Parts: sequence; structure tokens; C-alpha cells
Amino acid sequence: MSQHAAVVARSGRFAQGPAAEVAAFTESVSFDWRLWRQDILGSMAHAAMLHHVGLLSQRELRQILGGLAAIGREIAEAKFRWRPDLEDVHMNIEAALTQRVPAGAKLHTGRSRNDQIALDLRLWLRDEIGTLSGEVRGLQGSLVGLASRHVEVLAPGYTHLQRAQPVALAHHGLAYVEMLERDQGRLRDAFARCNVCPLGCGALAGSTLPLDRAFVARQLGFVDARGRVRLAENSMDAVSDRDFVVEFCAAAALIAVHLSRLAEDLILWSSTEFGFVRMADAFTTGSSLMPQKKNPDVAELIRGKSGRVVGNLTALLTLLKGLPMTYNRDLQEDKERLFDTADTVGACVRLMAGLLDHTTPNAAVCRAAAADPQLLATDVAEALVRCGVPFRQAHHAVGAAVALAERTGRRLDQLTPAEWQDLAPAAAIDPAVIFDLDRAMRRRTLPGSPGPREVRRQLARWRRRLSAGAAPGSRKAGSR
Ligand code: ARG
Repeated sequence: MSQHAAVVARSGRFAQGPAAEVAAFTESVSFDWRLWRQDILGSMAHAAMLHHVGLLSQRELRQILGGLAAIGREIAEAKFRWRPDLEDVHMNIEAALTQRVPAGAKLHTGRSRNDQIALDLRLWLRDEIGTLSGEVRGLQGSLVGLASRHVEVLAPGYTHLQRAQPVALAHHGLAYVEMLERDQGRLRDAFARCNVCPLGCGALAGSTLPLDRAFVARQLGFVDARGRVRLAENSMDAVSDRDFVVEFCAAAALIAVHLSRLAEDLILWSSTEFGFVRMADAFTTGSSLMPQKKNPDVAELIRGKSGRVVGNLTALLTLLKGLPMTYNRDLQEDKERLFDTADTVGACVRLMAGLLDHTTPNAAVCRAAAADPQLLATDVAEALVRCGVPFRQAHHAVGAAVALAERTGRRLDQLTPAEWQDLAPAAAIDPAVIFDLDRAMRRRTLPGSPGPREVRRQLARWRRRLSAGAAPGSRKAGSR
């Protein structure tokens, strides 16, 4: 180890470095190296603040900024040599800087790795939330696009996975757009609580030096929509808080669960038994044994990967629950869970959008399934209600009609007017009107219902929103 590196890596307190297996067990640079941009950005802002309060000369600041920029370039070009013996991304960069410029030895003034890692994670996650939110927007766009292209397609809606009532397939798709919109709101909330600057909180108790916390926070964009600077208000909380990681991972887990449900719908619908949709070859795979197979692996993996994302959330909550105040090394375990969640959910969102762009409904099969007259049994009961029959009696009468049809091997729309008259004397049922599927859909006019007018209105609303919409956390949304 070079002398500079040794000075950075351990204090005068230790006569010896850690045993090899301890070093291997405790290092984190093998995964936290990916925070290098944020680490350099944070160090640059910290150095600028040290200069601002008179703890660094102009010359020293210039040395530090130049050295950090050069290190950044080396890392970007994959020319930087990461050293596991220097433990983490922070020590690697600081040691390299100190080796280059003497002023590097002043960079860590008034700072601890505890506020530094909290800062790096917040900076990283802020960008990640913006990116994920944009990807979710893209997926919402794919759903709205698919729904718009096939707005005429009708299909059965299900409860208990039993055919229930007919719906526009577009309506089914827009249900997921709504779920994803709530996800967007959760990402926005997570962003707001992530966007708080911990720098200046030191190891746990701040510093006796005249640091300017607001200066550095402003430099790093820790401001709210109105431009007010956002500082962590308690130094002990600042270094031990990982709520922002949990909140993001919870929001991401719910996104993963929504995608898993959508994947399940697509898997069912692409089966021969349903035959409602066809996935393009490029988004399916074959079998190594059965030549005829075409498998929905992309959808299956999206469904499957939700498991690890939920697991990551559980792991984080478990990690935090017994920790005494304040920073404990346990917290190093947060990063791989966070990175895995962000990577996995991002990929799932992108792949789901691609899959939807390459999926086509089979309108004829969907319609044939939706045209099952039993799906309009509720419409018959509601027609009786319009004639003044109490709903419970109407429900009973139509139930009896369904039983009669089943008993006599006919469809519900094949009962004769006389039979209907028998079952519901108070009302005149005109099967030709009641069981006309398109008419039935036009009867559904309530807000939020699957009738053609309402679905078209919702589609237009979403198209407007998506073309105008800024991603939460983006500058356009004004949250920074
Ligand atoms: N690698 C550490 C982490 O991820 C950085 C902070 C280390 N701080 C300390 N006092 N050991 O949590």
C-alpha cells in the first residue's frame, strides 16, 4: 500500500491493517463503486463549501476539483484501478486524490463516511427515481397505445377467474394505467423525502468547524419546488436514516407486483385455452425439446422477478429493525438490495413495454368469449329493476332463467318470451334488445365504466396527460 493510501485507509490508531479475510468480508467497493459519480459530485460540492468558509485556499480548491475531475474521467474510461484493500468507493477515490494532489488530504475536513454514504445514496436514488418514473411513463404509453389501437375489442371481464361481465379490452388495459399512476405518485413522494441533504452531519454529531450546510445543499440541488433548501434537521437521524431507501424499494415492489399481475393476465391470454392475444416471436422463446412450443418467458420472468424485489424490501426492513442509533456497519448491506431492486424493476418495466408493443389481441376470439349471453344476466336483472321489480326478486328470477337454460341445454338468449313472462311476470323482456352485445356496452355510461363512450373519454384523457406529463422528480415537475 502506498503511503498516501495507507494514510487514507487507516488512522494512526492501528499498527496493522485488517487480516485478509476481514478485508474481504468488510469491503464494499465491489458493489458500491457504482456510486462514483455521486461521490465525486458530493466531494466537489463539499470542497467548494470548505473554500467558501475559508478552510481551503483557492489553490487547494483548484487542485482538488482538478484531481477529482481527472479521477472521474479515468473511472468513466474504465482506467481506474479499484482496490478492495481500500474498502469502499469513498476511500478509493480519496486515496487516489491524495496521491495526486497534496490538498487531497484536506478534502475529508468536517465530513465522515457516514454522512458521505448517506449523501451518495440520496444523490444516486434521486436520479434513479427520475429514470424509473420516466420508464413507467413509457409503459403507461404502451398500454394506452395498445388500448387505442384496439378500442373496439370486447372481452369478458372476470372475477374469481370466472367470466363475469363484458368489458372493452381497452378498459382492462387502462386499469393497469391507473395502478401505474398511483405508483408514479409513490415515486414522487419517495423523491421528496430522498431529496434532503445530510452533508455536515459528520459521523453523527456534526462538526465544530464553521461548515455552511445550506451552501453545499444548494450546490447539490437539495431544494424543494419553491427553491427552499432542504437539510436533514438532526445529525443523528441523518446518518442512520435509510427510510428513503425503504420507501423507494416499497414503491418499486408495488410496481413489480402490478407488473406481475399484468404478466399473469398476458400469460393466461396467450394460452391456447384463452387465445385472446398473440405475442410476437421476438418476445417469446421456444422449447429445447418440443418443436411446437412458443413460451411467454418474458412475461413469466417479469412475474418471477417480482419475488426478489419483494424480498429486497423485506431484507431492508429486517436489516433496520434492531439497529441502535446511529450508524452501524450493517447499513452497508442496504446497497445491494437497493441496486438490485432498481435494476430489476427498471428492466421489468422496459421489457413489459416492449412486450405490449409486440402483442396483438385476437378480436374475434375475444368477442366470441364476450358474447356469451350469460355475461348479460345482470343486465336482465337490471331491466327488471327498471320495471319496478325489487333487485333481490329480479336476481332470483334471472338465476332461475339461467338454471332453466342450463337444464334444457340452451343459451340464455334462447329462452322464449313466454318462458321469460313466466319467470318475471311484472316485466317485458325483449331478448333481441337485452342480449345485443354492442347495445349492452352502450348502456354502460357511468364514469369509470367500460362502455365505448367512457372508454374513449378515458383514452383521450390519458393521451393528453401522457403527452403533457413530466416525470416526477424531473426538473419539469419542479421538485428540485
Ligand atoms: N461502506 C460503508 C457503507 O456502505 C460506508 C460508511 C462506512 N462508515 C464507517 N464508519 N465504517 O455503509
